[in-house]
Amino acid sequence: MTAMFDLRNVTQDRLGAEGVDWPSELSALLPRLIAGRDALLSRKDDPGQALGWIDLPTRQDLWLSTKELAARYSGYQDLVVLGIGGSSLGGLTLTSALQHPQRSLQTAGIGLRVHFVDNVDGDVISGLLETLDPAGTVINVISKSGATTETMAAYMIFKQWLQNALGKDYAEHIVATTDPEKGVLRPMSTKYGFATLPVPANVGGRFSVLSPVGTFPAALAGLDVPALLRGAEKANATFLGDPEKSDAALFAAVNCVFAGRGKSMTVFMPYSTRLRFLSDWFAQLWAESLGKRVNAAGQVVHSGTTPVKAVGTTDQHSQVQLYTEGPNDKLFTFVRVQQPGAVTLIPNVEPDEPDMNYLAGRSFHDLLNAEQAATANALRQNGRPNLTYVMPSVSAEALGELLQTLMLATALEGELLGINAFDQPGVELGKVYTYALMGRPGFEQQARELRDAGVEA
Ligand code: PA5
Repeated sequence: MTAMFDLRNVTQDRLGAEGVDWPSELSALLPRLIAGRDALLSRKDDPGQALGWIDLPTRQDLWLSTKELAARYSGYQDLVVLGIGGSSLGGLTLTSALQHPQRSLQTAGIGLRVHFVDNVDGDVISGLLETLDPAGTVINVISKSGATTETMAAYMIFKQWLQNALGKDYAEHIVATTDPEKGVLRPMSTKYGFATLPVPANVGGRFSVLSPVGTFPAALAGLDVPALLRGAEKANATFLGDPEKSDAALFAAVNCVFAGRGKSMTVFMPYSTRLRFLSDWFAQLWAESLGKRVNAAGQVVHSGTTPVKAVGTTDQHSQVQLYTEGPNDKLFTFVRVQQPGAVTLIPNVEPDEPDMNYLAGRSFHDLLNAEQAATANALRQNGRPNLTYVMPSVSAEALGELLQTLMLATALEGELLGINAFDQPGVELGKVYTYALMGRPGFEQQARELRDAGVEA
């Protein structure tokens, strides 16, 4: 089966006055969708534009060099990824979706155990240092800019830990993934002899999951990266054609239509624990790309809808009360998986309990999908627009297709909004103030500014 969006629950037929005449809305938007798509594709090969991610699925050169480097570490036990934001969420999404769900509890299994250090939390880092064996651990420090405070601080701790344990051989245990030319990590890697992988200059962090940022951890985790890339290519192929048949264009369109009808939030809710971090990845992609103060013409617009991350069924028992009866200011996207991985059947161990034994013989997968359909319908009944992405299975190929679909949709949404989806001035400002507060040379003026405003570290 092929992946597709089920859009029935956004229509007037199903939602009454809260719904839309979807065929008319889509046909009215069609010229803008085509113009947006063509604008993105026309800029794609311009090295000054951050659109290099579109072609990552066919960058065999990048994948082959990544795979070759990964082979060097096949005898290791653990991989620690040091990165934050776009330098961490892609790898986290891939490994949590596609590796054995309890890989960290296995003593032997496919691929290395992967640990992500994506926050400044001394307890977590100490816990890793206490339990990992440096001789069997590879550290992948990922930073496109080669400067992000959190990542550099973690790198300094892990480098010392490796050096103390392994002496001069420590450098073999560090792989740096960074910009091909810019930043501190690149020259430092040359100086110390670290292996390196590039984040292509025209690929930004949140669009980098199919670059070595995501594919190196994925390869070490034993995942099927060629299938992942193949899936992403499928999304590209449909994006090139009729927008009405492209999931990326449809997702951008439905978000655009409902943003115009006062839905200021977009809830992303996969019904799959394995896809839990896909929600985090999507939230960053959508928020950082579309939340902008000014448009391309320099006018103040304060654009963007707020992404909300959720996972079904867990958040049914946390957020769905608000979603059903609270403010009607959200659009909901569910992800429903058609084919289960493991089939977990519920046994008939309570034959005398009619309130339980109706479940006997059914699978967890049946129950999960019944709950997804029930929630979508409860929202529909309350006039809450929602769409469902039907994913064939949680496989590398299907995930690659969904990731690329969401990246294309986000870029297209940026075009519809007339903003630059590829910068992040709001994040950069926070980074600069952190440098100033921590005493980084070159940021003395900002340090004075903060002191005058009474801000302390
Ligand atoms: O998407 C982005 O550009 C950001 O989220 C970055 O990935 C994040 O700030 C980390 O930056 P860097 O890779 O330069 O350390």
